Amino acid sequence: PAPGSFVNAANTDFSQAANREKQKSALTTVSGQLGRKWPLIIAGKKIADRDYVASVNPAKPSQIIGHWARATVADADAAVASARAAFPKWRATPVEERAKLLERAADLMESRRLELNALLILEAGKPWIEADGDTSEAIDFCRFYAVEMRRLAKPAVTQAVPGERCVQTWTPRGVGVAIAPWNFPLAILTGLVVAPLVAGNCIIMKPAEQTSVIGATLMDILIEAGLPAGVVNFLPGYGEDIGAHLTGHKDVDFIAFTGSRAVGCAIWEAAGRTKSGQANLKKVVCEMGGKNALIIDNDADLDEAIPAALYSAFGFSGQKCSALSRLIVLDEVYDAFVERFLSACPAIPVGNPALPGTVVGPVIDPDAQQKILGLIEQGRKEAQLAFQGTAPAEGFFVPPTVFTHVKPSHTIAREEIFGPVVAILRAKDLDEAFALVNGTDYALTGGLFSRSPRALERAQQELLVGNLYLNRAITGAIVERHPFGGFKMSGGGTKAGGKEYLQNFLFPRVIVENV
Ligand code: NAD
Ligand code: ALA
Repeated sequence: PAPGSFVNAANTDFSQAANREKQKSALTTVSGQLGRKWPLIIAGKKIADRDYVASVNPAKPSQIIGHWARATVADADAAVASARAAFPKWRATPVEERAKLLERAADLMESRRLELNALLILEAGKPWIEADGDTSEAIDFCRFYAVEMRRLAKPAVTQAVPGERCVQTWTPRGVGVAIAPWNFPLAILTGLVVAPLVAGNCIIMKPAEQTSVIGATLMDILIEAGLPAGVVNFLPGYGEDIGAHLTGHKDVDFIAFTGSRAVGCAIWEAAGRTKSGQANLKKVVCEMGGKNALIIDNDADLDEAIPAALYSAFGFSGQKCSALSRLIVLDEVYDAFVERFLSACPAIPVGNPALPGTVVGPVIDPDAQQKILGLIEQGRKEAQLAFQGTAPAEGFFVPPTVFTHVKPSHTIAREEIFGPVVAILRAKDLDEAFALVNGTDYALTGGLFSRSPRALERAQQELLVGNLYLNRAITGAIVERHPFGGFKMSGGGTKAGGKEYLQNFLFPRVIVENV
């Protein structure tokens, strides 16, 4: 790419037999190296003498991916102190050096792509193309934020007037905690860490419990890329103890969080309580869940809409915050659409994500499995079970499930399910369909299939979601092209992979010089 420009990483083309063979061979190699112990890393030092927690393959729970050291509250304090000590030097490090660190990390990820994909398949249960997309997004976050920080580093003249030079610059906030979910274990964790990092902040990296081996691998990559000691501290552990302690810590200046609504709201609240001795008001970047809907208009092209709806609902077992959870079908097309949609469902490949072609793998852990199965039971009481697939007995599987005759008041129409379950609602017209989309606590993704320019125009004005997709699937945001994030109970309105994102981790300063 030309200097100053950004180009998205290319995904692997698994339609090529040679690429499939390489991915299979990477899976074999990585499977042979599992079971390592992954220590904490604080101030550049490995801390190994802690209790360890096993991370398992959700498709085959007898397979241990690795063991991660469980950080204590005292470790969390040490990590904050380490980040604080590293901050003056890192803040003074030239932007170019910080940007190059991210670009070296991206190059390392690119060169280790198939190995990273294999880990995502094994530890998170991601099907191949989802794992490959996760790796691409992580690479993109590194390269995009490097380019963006170089842009922001150039002082911007606020107004040109004779006698005064007035410029706006940006300065890092300080010490932050990056708290990540398990569903994009490489991409989201990378984004939450490298954005504040390139902006000159020091970080405590707290991966999700379920995918801490991927987190440890990211830490290794950052170290190999030249990360100075203490600038990022690797702190795997349980959210309820170290997570809560870190977010309330007086020496933490900001929190970059992606995860559930309950935890996000608790962090937002805790961050608002200013403690004695606290230097800054805490900034919270908070991305939470969704209850995403897709409308099928009467004139929708069903050949396009059906595969897009199936993929949006069932890709990675519906475990994307962007996943389709409510299909809202207009009256005239309802019978035709539902018949075709239901007849396509049995063809969805369910099984072990280590096999190419799987679309629905396991869900992440037994708690998620039980929660989703409980919501399916609730759905059976409220609505009509229209399709349920089969799923392997071994592993944390939930069969793909579709309900019809769902009413907006039903639990399955209101709560985020985060599994391979879709609720079909019927709407008499577009007014009702739009009201249904907006009638939820969330505002993350949404979409409309229609051939009517008027309906597409109305959707742009009236559908209140952070990412609106017209005549396409509602998942799969690409860095820079589709800045991602929602509002209402889906988040604070920030856009990962967008031009304004880095500003969340910086304070603006204005310098006025009499000339
Ligand atoms: P989660 O909220 O259970 O956990 C997320 C992280 O928060 C984990 O690292 C966890 O250890 C930590 N945590 C838990 N309790 C904590 C506490 N009290 N204080 C501080 N940290 C704590 O979420 P999850 O199950 O890992 O992820 C799934 C959720 O994430 C879904 O709701 C999904 O929609 C959402 N999500 C949102 C986006 C987005 O961009 N909006 C992207 C991916 C996932
Ligand atoms: N960024 C992810 C997507 O768009 C969640 O599907």
